[in-house]
Amino acid sequence: MEAMTTSAAPRVLAFPGYRAPAGRLAARLGWGLDEVAVRQFPDGESLVRLPASLPEHAVFYLSFDRPNERLVELELAAATARDLGAGRLTLVAPYLCYMRQDSAFHPGEAVSQRVVGRLLARRFDEVVTVDPHLHRTARLEDAVPARRAVAVTAAPALAEWLAARDDAPVLLGPDAESAQWVRAVAEPGGLEHAVAHKVRHGDRDVTIRLPDFDFAGRDVVLVDDVASTGHTLAGAARAVLGAGAARVDALVTHALFVGDALDLLAGAGVGEVRSTDSLPHPTNAVHLDALLAGALEGA
Ligand code: R5P
Repeated sequence: MEAMTTSAAPRVLAFPGYRAPAGRLAARLGWGLDEVAVRQFPDGESLVRLPASLPEHAVFYLSFDRPNERLVELELAAATARDLGAGRLTLVAPYLCYMRQDSAFHPGEAVSQRVVGRLLARRFDEVVTVDPHLHRTARLEDAVPARRAVAVTAAPALAEWLAARDDAPVLLGPDAESAQWVRAVAEPGGLEHAVAHKVRHGDRDVTIRLPDFDFAGRDVVLVDDVASTGHTLAGAARAVLGAGAARVDALVTHALFVGDALDLLAGAGVGEVRSTDSLPHPTNAVHLDALLAGALEGA
């Protein structure tokens, strides 16, 4: 294919559903914005179309809300961008999929974190994401060995959002893995925080055991990186309300909220549910463009 790159300034290429957050990021950086067009054929295949002319540095923006589809569409887009002559490709994926399977928990299981990380690193010079679910893996570059792999944290933005509340809630992380995020969100405002113990019995079956903390009469905000089926947050909400909490809300970074997750939370007594715009969702309340721009500035 003939190279058709034209401009020296980077441009952000927004996947469907991501025009708004990608536009905020592009505006903040003074970069141009284009869209990636994706059409689904009746059989489920995707047709991906990029602008016919690309800059030397193209920045793709999407999150992995439908991970399998998005991975294929991104692969098609990135390969096409190279064919069109883009010399440098950056991926901004505020929510990075497949980061939780960091080990073969049973013989023969794919270690998806490693496989997907390498796939992305083969296509992209840089990968920028937000609070990837790295548990046993120390650094993002260990999972995504791109030339540059940057993980920014949403904690300062979540802390700022909490600071606007007129109470001083206790923050509760529902499981040991959330401890890093709960601490980082609580500390800027000097909020009390605690971490529960979770045992997962199945995709939609968790048991939450509260830590030794007096929740009676307190406003509690559950803080987690990912909410998927909502069972983790619902279990934590039932537990703290059972321990006498006055009110329980939830604040998450990556709002997957699959199926009836929000109904489940309402049924468990959760009041306000808020999230960052890492994934487009009606609960979005915290924009991440400033943090992402910080990771890209000077790039
Ligand atoms: C796992 O440790 C994550 O931090 C979340 O707690 C988990 O992904 C939530 O999943 P679900 O909403 O399906 O309980």
